[in-house]
Order: sequence, then structure tokens, then C-alpha cells
Amino acid sequence: MSFDPPSFSLNSGYMMPAIGIGCWMGRPGEGEHVVQMIKNALQMGYRHIDTAAIYGDEESVGIAIKESGIPRENIFITTKLASADHGKAASALDQSLKKLGTDYVDLYLMHWPQAFTEEGTAIPPNEFPTYVDTWKDMETLLDSGKVRSIGVSNFSIVTLTHLLDQTHIIPAVNQVELHPFLPQHKLLKFCNEKSILLTAYAPVGKGKFGSNPALATIAEQHGVTVAQVMLSWGVQRGTSVIPKTEKLHRLKENFSIIKLTPEEMHTLDILHHTPGLHRSACGFHSPLLGGSAFGWTYDQLGWEMTLGGIATQKETVA
Ligand SMILES: NC(=O)c1ccc[n+]([C@@H]2O[C@H](COP(=O)([O-])OP(=O)(O)OC[C@H]3O[C@@H](n4cnc5c(N)ncnc54)[C@H](OP(=O)(O)O)[C@@H]3O)[C@@H](O)[C@H]2O)c1
Repeated sequence: MSFDPPSFSLNSGYMMPAIGIGCWMGRPGEGEHVVQMIKNALQMGYRHIDTAAIYGDEESVGIAIKESGIPRENIFITTKLASADHGKAASALDQSLKKLGTDYVDLYLMHWPQAFTEEGTAIPPNEFPTYVDTWKDMETLLDSGKVRSIGVSNFSIVTLTHLLDQTHIIPAVNQVELHPFLPQHKLLKFCNEKSILLTAYAPVGKGKFGSNPALATIAEQHGVTVAQVMLSWGVQRGTSVIPKTEKLHRLKENFSIIKLTPEEMHTLDILHHTPGLHRSACGFHSPLLGGSAFGWTYDQLGWEMTLGGIATQKETVA
């Protein structure tokens, strides 16, 4: 039995719809596809859109919202500050607003903790602008009224702890890769304790885990798809989810969640204990990356990841 997705309270006092539509199309641009996808999603009842400056589709999101006829204030829009813009958050935000055709965003996220040079090279963690410098700039944006809430993305317990020690405003959201194969139990517990809402990206594991027998059994028992089980688990444990799909039938199913039993929740919580299943759908564990992501080592990012695997020890359920 499916039910309408709830909304979650943010520590800023605003509400975020638990299910949003992701706008990363696998490559920048894809304008017409994005316009159609967002218009379809809005027509189906989605009221939360997740985009980013580097997705190259903020303009398309703005067009879709305008053409949908749905009032701007009824839609929760997240966009993200690119790593190349860490030293210039205010002007980067203005550019995003112009492209989106709106005078405020509901949530502005620091996309990654690392800043990039103009040439696209990652600046080392202790050099200007650090993520603490960037966050301090983002804090000032709240006074401008151009952002309702600010948050971070791809932050770990290590980087969040350092950020909280050095700054005043607690991020409203931390957006990270999260699904049953990378459940982030420790990070979720930490974020809950600090009143930071965890948002799951790649929440249907990029569609890679459809054949998992444990997921398939639960899906069959409820007469739903594996993706719906993954999203229901995400929302039921208090994380917002932002699946991307261009397909009409998937847009519909992703927006329709079910209530899982405590036993089913537990099965999903420990699914990653199965040998070989604890992994990133985005390929962050791949030996090809040489133990780093976008120029910082896993250690600098505070990620408990090893080459070819994820955590050095299995995460127990909090
Ligand atoms: N903050 C960050 O660094 C970061 C990183 C990655 C992503 N994100 C955000 O998170 C959003 C979602 O992440 P994602 O796009 O990487 O992964 P995802 O939503 O888990 O998966 C998207 C892929 O799964 C397919 N899919 C969607 N729904 C499905 C369903 N019900 N059944 C089977 N397959 C399904 C889609 O294909 P079709 O379109 O063909 O249906 C697409 O190929 C992004 O769009 C972006 O907004 C943020």
C-alpha cells in the first residue's frame, strides 16, 4: 500500500519534501530532456528539484518550472556551488539564480569540500579557500534572502566535525551517496545528533542492484519494484531521496513509497554485510581512482574507504 511522501523539517525552520527529482543526466547540458523530465515530474506531484551549477541544466530547470505554471513558492529548489567557485560564492549564486529564473533558492549546497583552481586542479585541504572559508562566505548569503537554507555535500564525519568546530551555522543538509549498499549508518547517526538532514544521492544505486535477491523478495511481497523498496527504506529511516529518471513509469513509481516492516528494514540495514556488496554505485571504490576522489585522498575526505572496497570494518546499525 503506497502513500504520499512526507516532508522533513530542516534546522533552518523550512520543510523539504522527502522525495525530489535529481537532475544529473550523466553529462552536462541535455536541455530538452531536462525540461521534459522536470515538467513531467511536477505534473506528477514532485515539488523538490535537485540541480547544480556543474550539471549545466539550471536554465532548463528554470524553463520547466515556468512552463509548468506551478507557483515558484510551491517548489523546493536545491542547487550547488561548484568547486571552481569556492572563492566567489556570492557571484556564483547570482549566476545560478539568473539561470534558474528565480530570486532565491531553497537550499544552496557546497557541492564538494575541495576547492578547485581555475584550471580545475584540487587545492590542498589547508590552503585558501578551505571549506571553512567557503562556508563562512555561504553563511553571509543567508542575510541576502537569496538562499533559505545552506548545506554541504560529500562531507564525512571528519570534515563535518572540523566545519562545526570552526563556524557558527550548522548545515541544514548533507547530501551524500546513500543506498542499502552504502547505508552510511555512522554518518546518519552523527547527522541526526547535529540536526543535519542527510539527503541520499544515487538512492536507487543508479539502477544497478535490481537483481539483488533480498531486495527482489521484499519487492515481490509488496507488489512493487526494487527501486521503490530502496526509496521507501531511505525515507523511512529519515533521509530525503533524489532519484533521477527520465522515464514516465519510473517517475511515477519513484514517487510512490511503501511502509516496510521492522524486519524488512533490518534486512536492508545489513544487506551491505554480504561479501562484495558494500560498495559505491558511483564507482568511488574503484582501484582506477587510486584512493582519491576529485583530487583529495579518501583520508583527506574522511571517507572510510579502501581500494576495491568501502569501510575497513562493517558498519553496524546505529
Ligand atoms: N551531490 C553530489 O555530489 C551528487 C552526486 C551524484 C548525484 N547527485 C544528485 O542525485 C541525483 C540522483 O543520483 P544519480 O542520478 O546519480 O543516481 P540514481 O538516481 O540512483 O539513478 C539514476 C539511474 O537509475 C535509473 N533509474 C531511476 N529510477 C529507476 C527505477 N525506478 N528503476 C530502475 N532504474 C531507475 C535512471 O535511468 P533512466 O533515467 O533511464 O530511468 C538512471 O540511469 C542526481 O540526479 C543528482 O541530482 C548528487
